[in-house]
Amino acid sequence: MSHRNNPSKQFDPTFRAKSRSTWEVIRRVAVYLQPYKLMAAGTIGCAILSLLFAVTYPKLTQFVIDEVIGNRKTDLLAPAILALLGAFLLRDLFNSLRIMINNSFEQNVIYDMRKDVFARLQRLPVQYFDQRASGDLMTRVVEDVNAVERVLIDGTEQGTVALLSIFGILGILLYMNPSLAVVALIPLPLLFGGAAWYTFTAHRRYRAQRHAASAMNALLMDNLQGVRQIKAFGRQKHEDSRFADRAEDLRQSTLGIMRVWAMYSPAMSFAASLGMGLVLWYGGSLVLDGAMTVGELVGFIIYLGLFYEPVGRLHSLNQMMQGARAAGERVFDILDATEERSQASKLGRLNSPIRGEITYENVGFQYAPGKAVLSDISLRADPGEIVALVGPTGAGKSTLVNLLAAFYEVSSGSITIDGQDIAGISLESLREQISVVSQEAFLFNGTVRENILYGRLDAADEELIAAAQAANCHEFIARLPEGYDSRVGERGVKLSVGEKQRVSIARALLKNAPILILDEATASVDTATEKLIQEALERLMANRTSFVIAHRLSTIRKADQILVLRHGRIIETGTHEALVARDGLYARLARIQNTTFIEEGFEKIENELEIVANP
Ligand SMILES: Nc1ncnc2c1ncn2[C@@H]1O[C@H](COP(=O)(O)OP(=O)(O)OP(=O)(O)O)[C@@H](O)[C@H]1O
Ligand SMILES: [Mg+2]
Repeated sequence: MSHRNNPSKQFDPTFRAKSRSTWEVIRRVAVYLQPYKLMAAGTIGCAILSLLFAVTYPKLTQFVIDEVIGNRKTDLLAPAILALLGAFLLRDLFNSLRIMINNSFEQNVIYDMRKDVFARLQRLPVQYFDQRASGDLMTRVVEDVNAVERVLIDGTEQGTVALLSIFGILGILLYMNPSLAVVALIPLPLLFGGAAWYTFTAHRRYRAQRHAASAMNALLMDNLQGVRQIKAFGRQKHEDSRFADRAEDLRQSTLGIMRVWAMYSPAMSFAASLGMGLVLWYGGSLVLDGAMTVGELVGFIIYLGLFYEPVGRLHSLNQMMQGARAAGERVFDILDATEERSQASKLGRLNSPIRGEITYENVGFQYAPGKAVLSDISLRADPGEIVALVGPTGAGKSTLVNLLAAFYEVSSGSITIDGQDIAGISLESLREQISVVSQEAFLFNGTVRENILYGRLDAADEELIAAAQAANCHEFIARLPEGYDSRVGERGVKLSVGEKQRVSIARALLKNAPILILDEATASVDTATEKLIQEALERLMANRTSFVIAHRLSTIRKADQILVLRHGRIIETGTHEALVARDGLYARLARIQNTTFIEEGFEKIENELEIVANP
């Protein structure tokens, strides 16, 4: 891909896949063909039968010319033609059967592979997605999987058939007329040389093309997500040109492939015609000398056509193979990525029912080496307690709670639930005990009902409504045109922020896990809605060990302990009263009474913070 000096090109959201040999890709895809041995045999069998009937045709033609026409055996004409038609019919019947079997074979393999890729994607660590663009991953699941599968389905079938017909027909040619056959093979080194050159140079071009396709899709995906921002900033023209750049890269790289193919394929076909010409020349002189009949020459030439046709097919196959190799690298990149919390080690389960006692012991964490985001975090939450985390933006609050749900793994220290180190617990067992309500409520593109039921798929209708009522969202849902069956749009765009929040609280209530992680949203809503959300949150926190990243002073006051976080360290802990009495940082913060959200307080005393943290 060309990189002109254009700022829009500097962020490359797609990851270059590790280079793999064609053999490796073939070996890996072969695993997917294993369950369909019968289909593979069927398609190859049909192809061979079809081939057998196809090769009778030159022989019959020769017979018609030499015997029927040459010897004027009129009565043999009709049976000969009927035999010929019969051979054609059988050839095409088996061909049709082959295509049908091949299609199911192909779709089965695509289905299996796509399911595997999707399953693997879902089990990759959050960190994997932090580094990649969704559009890139989508391209791999949607487009690349198709291309990969072709390597073997068409490869096994067409490759086998092509090789069989090449050797079979070569035998026939040699049997018919050895010296003429040798003449026919003169262009063969050219064909082999061309194929070798193509194979060695094609990979780079295909890689570039797959990469360009991914980059374009990544941008498209990003733009669709940000369509409101694009409009609000009036950046349509800017985006047009960014997209045009990516589309141009794709155009150029695709044309690059096509250009080479456009030269290579006809060149190979010409090399084959060279053989034809030589045969006609030498064979013509043989016929003139009476060493060969006209029918024999015609039959030979038709066989020669049948010989070079699969040679051409091998070239196309090679082209496809190179495309599949580039796509395969990208697919196997996903399949080979390490799952979060590797399944290799035997992982335990939390002893349920859990009480909900949580400790952090000297926990340290970094997203990237060398830049500690959390250091020396130690805390203890008793069952049913509310722990409020406060601190300026970027302090590491979200990071701290994300470690509990093991979205990321601690870099040092340990986290325990009821005394069990969570590092040794399977993610499934861990996460079923934790409800997460994130800062920005994410809803799936479905109905309100589906979104709430995400908390517990088999919940009864009464339970669903009870959860919605407790989350203070039943009323507004009931007012929607289709009630619980109203669609919320992508990411829940059809609902207001306050509504989305309450739906996500209902979802967490339905899950009813003993541990709660709540990243309070900072978005301001009107006082009435604020009260509804507040009530919903209180019901959600009741009887659970809750970690609340609190922004509302009202939530903070209710907490059993408050952890004040700054630059990844806990600098103060205690209840509201204790912290106020201590007259430290929090006390100063709390004295600023006229705020709803704690951030405003942080801004106001940022200078004091500097002094306290770095005396
Ligand atoms: N996925 C990530 N990859 C790399 N760095 C990250 C990632 N998420 C957060 N960080 C960095 O880690 C630090 C802590 O971020 P975190 O999201 O935990 O802050 P926070 O206290 O929750 O802030 P806020 O109140 O704004 O939500 C920040 O410096 C941030 O840039
Ligand atoms: Mg945060």
